[in-house]
Amino acid sequence: METIFSGIQPSGTLTLGNYLGAIKQFVELQDDYDCYFCIVDEHAITVPQDRLKLRQNIKSLAALYLASGINPEKATLFIQSEVPAHTQLGWMLQSIGYVGELERMTQYKDKSKGKEAVSTALLTYPALMAADILLYQTNVVPVGDDQKQHLELTRDLAERFNNRFNDIFTIPEIRIPKVGARIMSLQDPTKKMSKSDENEKGFISMLDDPKKIEKKIKSAVTDSDGIVKYDKENKPGVSNLLTIYSSCTGESIEALEAKYEGKGYGDFKQGVANAVIGVLQPIQEKYAELLESDQLNDILDTGAEKAALTANKTLAKAKKAMGLGRVK
Ligand code: AQP
Repeated sequence: METIFSGIQPSGTLTLGNYLGAIKQFVELQDDYDCYFCIVDEHAITVPQDRLKLRQNIKSLAALYLASGINPEKATLFIQSEVPAHTQLGWMLQSIGYVGELERMTQYKDKSKGKEAVSTALLTYPALMAADILLYQTNVVPVGDDQKQHLELTRDLAERFNNRFNDIFTIPEIRIPKVGARIMSLQDPTKKMSKSDENEKGFISMLDDPKKIEKKIKSAVTDSDGIVKYDKENKPGVSNLLTIYSSCTGESIEALEAKYEGKGYGDFKQGVANAVIGVLQPIQEKYAELLESDQLNDILDTGAEKAALTANKTLAKAKKAMGLGRVK
């Protein structure tokens, strides 16, 4: 069976973008692959985090994974910082990465733009992400479109390591969903929907109640055409809403265009809101139950143990290949 690894940062409450771009495909894939799903808390601290909020977000993310349909009997769910092999291999991969290639990462450029002080970890983040993936000899990494560049770098680092030292790592492939790979902000549809967006109206949180979802979608930026048509260049707002609608219901974009032909944006936006509520409401109900239960800690303990078993094996091979430590 092939292996899948993917992670999500507990840097805020997950957005609809995280759900449609990442979690939704995780749920679909867990039957056919050996899956590792990670709460990448060490990535979250590349930008300042409030200690208590971070703790809360970690637990909340674990509950959201499960409420969305991740089955701990099938997939391994764990917290990155509870498996030390991640930072160990991350450091080793930094030693074969180049500052130039890290500085070229769009996410680094975006997140450091206009900031006076930027953490070193924000720059070296992709080496840790490469370690996350390579430790599990991952074949496939399901992510949203924004992670494409980081995955290319992971492949480069793995190939560089294999060529320089020994053939240790499997070279992973990226898997991006056909629809929903990049959900855009509701307020600026040229920008990705992000959980750390300062403008709360720009994103739909997976825990927003139906009223809030409706309100946010109704105030989403569109255009003055009044025509429901997919045209990313000229109608980015409407195109984004069509993408959201289609990935929530499975109806094709063409079918949705036909359904709303001759109708105004009011009707269309109501349809989008209903579709989103239809997906998120059942998840929210399960989430509330899970957060109250003891089950969560047990699942994360078992997950960390299982993940460490695999990760430590790969780490030992990589250390030996590099000449670290002693041969015993
Ligand atoms: N807008 C999006 N559309 C589709 N997929 C998305 N993903 C993120 N935003 C969108 C996918 O979600 C997974 C987890 O992402 P992450 O939390 O590790 O980091 P991120 O990509 O930086 O997500 P955010 O929401 O933008 O977080 P912040 O604001 O903290 O930086 C990934 O698979 C990602 O592709």
